[in-house]
Amino acid sequence: MLKKVTVNTIQKIKEAGEKFSVLTAYDYSTAKYIDEAGIDIILIGDSLAMVALGYETTHSVGVEEMIIFTKAVSKGVQRAMVVTDMPFMSYHCDIASAIRNCGEMIKNGANAVKIEGYSTYILEVIKRLTESGIPVMGHLGFTPQFLNTLGGYKIQGKTQEAAEKILNQARELEKAGVFSIVLEMVPQEAAKYISENLTVPTISCGAGKYCSGQVLVSDDVFGKFSNFKPKFARKYGDMKALIYNCAKKFDEDVKNGNYPSEDEVF
Ligand code: KIV
Repeated sequence: MLKKVTVNTIQKIKEAGEKFSVLTAYDYSTAKYIDEAGIDIILIGDSLAMVALGYETTHSVGVEEMIIFTKAVSKGVQRAMVVTDMPFMSYHCDIASAIRNCGEMIKNGANAVKIEGYSTYILEVIKRLTESGIPVMGHLGFTPQFLNTLGGYKIQGKTQEAAEKILNQARELEKAGVFSIVLEMVPQEAAKYISENLTVPTISCGAGKYCSGQVLVSDDVFGKFSNFKPKFARKYGDMKALIYNCAKKFDEDVKNGNYPSEDEVF
């Protein structure tokens, strides 16, 4: 029996000075394979708006879609912790709808939710979610749902003052009850400083090597999504070429009569 990764596992990894891995997944079979590969946290990121649904930004995805992807991914996972990213405007209107929407993700297979940003309202949401038995992963630095207010894909925490601001926000998130915090597009030294001054683990998304966890979008890792590749993403395969070549070969085989063969018919 595989031992399920929980909030306690993640905390112990940080305390032991070890590392954990986080990848996104949006479908059953990908989730199954990356779980079998030993990935510790599987995130149904709202990045699926772009990589799985073809939208321009993460703003266009909603609660109903996130539920469908959460159901598919969680069915494929045995060991990893499954975290669903709460989509734009699903937790901002009022606390009651925030709790209801986050609760839907847990009911449909997630073990925790991720919410972006910092404000006194967000702190209250985090507090109420954790009190309701819903573990929360925070997300600071560059937060894609704030793309329009941040004015583009910009590195955050570049000055000492800006890094201090992120650390203060992170400390408040920690007090409100988050079990981990994603730091996105933060300079490595700033992320080190922030991570060293927190009790909960930080997860780097382009924030360098000193965080306890590292997260990437799986389509970047597999070489599947090619519209845009962030500087910090590492491509481990060429799934785009694999898919193209398989489709091309099938197309040729159908058209020249090589498919189906005698072994492939009843
Ligand atoms: O949506 C997403 O995939 C994310 C991670 C890359 C942190 O938020």
